[in-house]
Amino acid sequence: EKGGFDHFMLKEIYEQPRSIRDCMRGRIYPNEGFVQLGGIKEYAEKLKNIDRIIIVACGTSWHAGLVGEYLIEEYARIPVEVEYASEFRYRNPIITEKDVVIAISQSGETADTMAAIEMAKEKGATIFGVCNVVGSSIPRLTHAGVYTHAGPEIGVASTKAFTAQVTVLTLIAFYMAQQKGTITKAKMVELLTELDLIPEKIQRALESNDLIKEIAAKFKDSRNCLFLGRGSGFPVALEGALKLKEISYIHAEGYPAAEMKHGPIALIDEEMPVVVIATKNSSYEKVISNIQEVKARKGIVLAIVTEGDTEVKKMADYVIEIPDASEAFLPLLATIPLQLLSYHIAVLRDCNVDQPRNLAKSVTVE
Ligand code: M6R
Repeated sequence: EKGGFDHFMLKEIYEQPRSIRDCMRGRIYPNEGFVQLGGIKEYAEKLKNIDRIIIVACGTSWHAGLVGEYLIEEYARIPVEVEYASEFRYRNPIITEKDVVIAISQSGETADTMAAIEMAKEKGATIFGVCNVVGSSIPRLTHAGVYTHAGPEIGVASTKAFTAQVTVLTLIAFYMAQQKGTITKAKMVELLTELDLIPEKIQRALESNDLIKEIAAKFKDSRNCLFLGRGSGFPVALEGALKLKEISYIHAEGYPAAEMKHGPIALIDEEMPVVVIATKNSSYEKVISNIQEVKARKGIVLAIVTEGDTEVKKMADYVIEIPDASEAFLPLLATIPLQLLSYHIAVLRDCNVDQPRNLAKSVTVE
């Protein structure tokens, strides 16, 4: 049942080229520059006039929500707020009939996310679900939705469900942009053509597995770990940190790289590994100076870089390459080495990778 892999988590990491392909099937038309989302089609008109989107989710799904915020604001130019479902439900949030709430949940059973949906629904908002488990509770509570189609995820640490959520949110962002006319046909053709190649690029990113295993051996006894990223790389840093703490029990934190100097920099010494998303995107030069700041304090830098990078290689202690991609698609690729890194560290520490202590696959209590 694990298909020859030692753990479900590893199997699910390796399934990602396929699960993302499945997620896009019948939804993207690269040559025509067109996205079709049957699940929210009925709301196509409404999407032309919405003022605001609120995303609610927990854990990894909340990280996917942050990527969604980046993409929807960038392409559809609609303001987005991303909320922890548990916080949202206990506040008195301002919600109106004009709002669209997107609830993201792999299991479709998370109690806090369900309660947030019910509250927003009562206040008249339109609710879209982004769920993986077909027929689960959340899709039944929502007005419309888009399934992620990642297939069953058994490992408690979410991997393929996360990248499928990000893929669906990318499609939703493009769909909204298409409805609102905030994107040209030519740009859409370009973006969808690139998106269509992402499964192959993920396949290539997976080829670093042996190298990552070697790096994991160097990091396995660390007590802490910092993850830094900027722009769409910031949610990737958060997700990398969550994965590591969940399955290896190493204390890890994700930070926007520029925030390091406002506090976390105090933690850096020769025992502190810092994982930096340092791909060739708009913030490349700035991230390079963050790496210099870490090295000046003798921190150990593991950088996720774009294939062929030479500059970061001169500074970082370890580098893992990923294929080149636009900033929009960076999260789909940069997440892969971080999933493998936490997996190998956890295995080396003899942790129960698929069923970490104190955690459940779906959190049905508040
Ligand atoms: O099923 P959901 O997506 O609603 O679950 C939300 C979180 O409980 C979940 O993402 C959790 O953080 C995972 N264990 C992360 O790997």
